[in-house]
Amino acid sequence: MALKIGVVSQKGGVGKSTLVRALAVEYARNGFSVKIADMDLRQKTTTEWNCIRMENNASPTLAVEPFASVKDVLKQEPHYDLVLFDGVGQADMQTLEIALASDFIILPTGVTRDDLIPQVKLAHELRKKGIEKSRLAFALSRVGGSTVEQEAATEFIQDAGYYCAGSVQERTSIGQCHDNGLAANETKYPSVNLIIDQLIQNLGDRINLIENSNGKITQTQ
Ligand SMILES: Nc1ncnc2c1ncn2[C@@H]1O[C@H](COP(=O)(O)OP(=O)(O)O)[C@@H](O)[C@H]1O
Ligand SMILES: [Mg+2]
Repeated sequence: MALKIGVVSQKGGVGKSTLVRALAVEYARNGFSVKIADMDLRQKTTTEWNCIRMENNASPTLAVEPFASVKDVLKQEPHYDLVLFDGVGQADMQTLEIALASDFIILPTGVTRDDLIPQVKLAHELRKKGIEKSRLAFALSRVGGSTVEQEAATEFIQDAGYYCAGSVQERTSIGQCHDNGLAANETKYPSVNLIIDQLIQNLGDRINLIENSNGKITQTQ
């Protein structure tokens, strides 16, 4: 059985695909065979990104495919160690389906209240549908230079009762990486990559914690 991670949001442009690609690269580096399910059929951003990645012979190689339904993604499960759902914003039913199918759910968000409020609302809705709090983690996207802003956003998430795993800085080099089929943790700058790898490490620790206790952990922060 593959590990299944869903990356979802209500809003678009909050860093779902950025995080999915970085996770895929980090897990593939660690020997996982990775499939990204690109659920954004209109934009297919990650599918097109992987074509550029292949053209540029970037390593590790990844498998990315667009899917119309979660059910079709799950048919792929036996062939991979990790399945990543790259969700699409404004898709309430599919977001719930992805969350129900996933072992772990990541909610990326910008640091402003405009982004934080809808993501916390989504987390609450998923909990109402029976998803345990321990399976949810927030990640801050496009964080600027202000540590005050970052701390305030982290506090907002924690006050709402959720775990915040870390952040991805806003960097021109990350946009350039995306344009070249690379992920946010494959920039030329070790300091940029390190922060993202720390975020991924925290998420991995969290996932291990759940797996080792068969989903029964009560500690969430
Ligand atoms: N940390 C970052 N630094 C620079 N550009 C970023 C960063 N995160 C995301 N972007 C860019 O912002 C846009 C939206 O991000 P994306 O991950 O595609 O969001 P989503 O998948 O939630 O719609 C993309 O063009 C992406 O390249
Ligand atoms: Mg996307």
